[in-house]
Amino acid sequence: MAASPDPILILGGGLMGLAVAHQLARRGHSVLLLSRRRSEAAGFVAAGMLAPHAEGLSGPLLQLGQASLKRIPHWVAQIEADSGLSCGLRPCGIVVPFETPEQRDQFPTAPWGLSLDRLELEREVPGIGDAWRAGLLFSQDGQIDNRRQLMRALERACVQLGVQFQEGSEVQELLQDASGHLKAVRLVSAEGETLTMACQSAVLAGGAWSAQLLPELPVFPVKGQMLSLQAPKGALERVVFGPGTYLVPREDGLLVVGATSEPEAGFDEGLTPAGQRTLQEGIASLLPAANSWPPMERWWGFRPCTPDEGPLLGTSPVPGLWLATGHHRNGVLLAAITAELLCLQISPETGGGKETNNAEGTLLEQFHWSRFQGRA
Ligand code: GLY
Repeated sequence: MAASPDPILILGGGLMGLAVAHQLARRGHSVLLLSRRRSEAAGFVAAGMLAPHAEGLSGPLLQLGQASLKRIPHWVAQIEADSGLSCGLRPCGIVVPFETPEQRDQFPTAPWGLSLDRLELEREVPGIGDAWRAGLLFSQDGQIDNRRQLMRALERACVQLGVQFQEGSEVQELLQDASGHLKAVRLVSAEGETLTMACQSAVLAGGAWSAQLLPELPVFPVKGQMLSLQAPKGALERVVFGPGTYLVPREDGLLVVGATSEPEAGFDEGLTPAGQRTLQEGIASLLPAANSWPPMERWWGFRPCTPDEGPLLGTSPVPGLWLATGHHRNGVLLAAITAELLCLQISPETGGGKETNNAEGTLLEQFHWSRFQGRA
């Protein structure tokens, strides 16, 4: 990228915005991150599963997920070195239970997992409900403590590397020059001032709200409600990924339980009795004893979804604006590869060799926003 007096703007202070800002800053770029409301970011809401196999992904999304999973240990090591904080990475494996061996064998990612019969399933998940007769263990999948550790470590790493932050800034408009290239953004600051900020380069990482800035993008919210329980020490080692409900045991015994999937809710905020009941029923089915463990917290958030549930990465309809959004259920998993791909495109001179660029370029093409053009 040609040298520019203006910093690269990151529009969105969630996990994608932070991850891209961090990698750009590591490559020597000047970066300013504009965040509307830190607490609404999906990165704080997710359970932090690293689960391309347990999610049963397929096609290019599985490839992208596997590529990210491979990079996560190195990515986390960079964040931990830059921040001095632990990210809470836990390569604990994920168990997916099934009611029948046939369902297990038909699961899209079954070839990557270890087949479990009922006895083996009980050994992996002591106390698992009677309905589950078979399972798959994906020992390569895991989790990271996104809510309490990763997000904070990334923020600190960014600050240490000189990234500027403006929390409470709502970007309302992208301004283009006569050729259509991005030239500025209009925003309202936390103090209520309307400002025009010049920029030649920006990354849109606005999560579920991305289409509010660029209506061409087919990104919409899928609400999820969650809760956490305090489990007895050592009660569960593996993540358990059931249909509709999953249990994610943190190192200190907190058990994160997710999640409803409510596209019909739009941006309706708040918990609902029906949503919380769904989670309670899921717990009762997966791990009956957990229904008596004390609840610690309940929360909700909005996944940024697209029609094919894959992210939008790379260039956008506005030259100078790149996309890092639409990661739906897989944002925590995909943050590492997203940051790397975006940096390779925005700043190719600081990236890997030709071979890397070719492989990454193919991945980027598959997640270009234009794949939805012309769709009804
Ligand atoms: N990654 C799981 C979820 O979005 O609920």
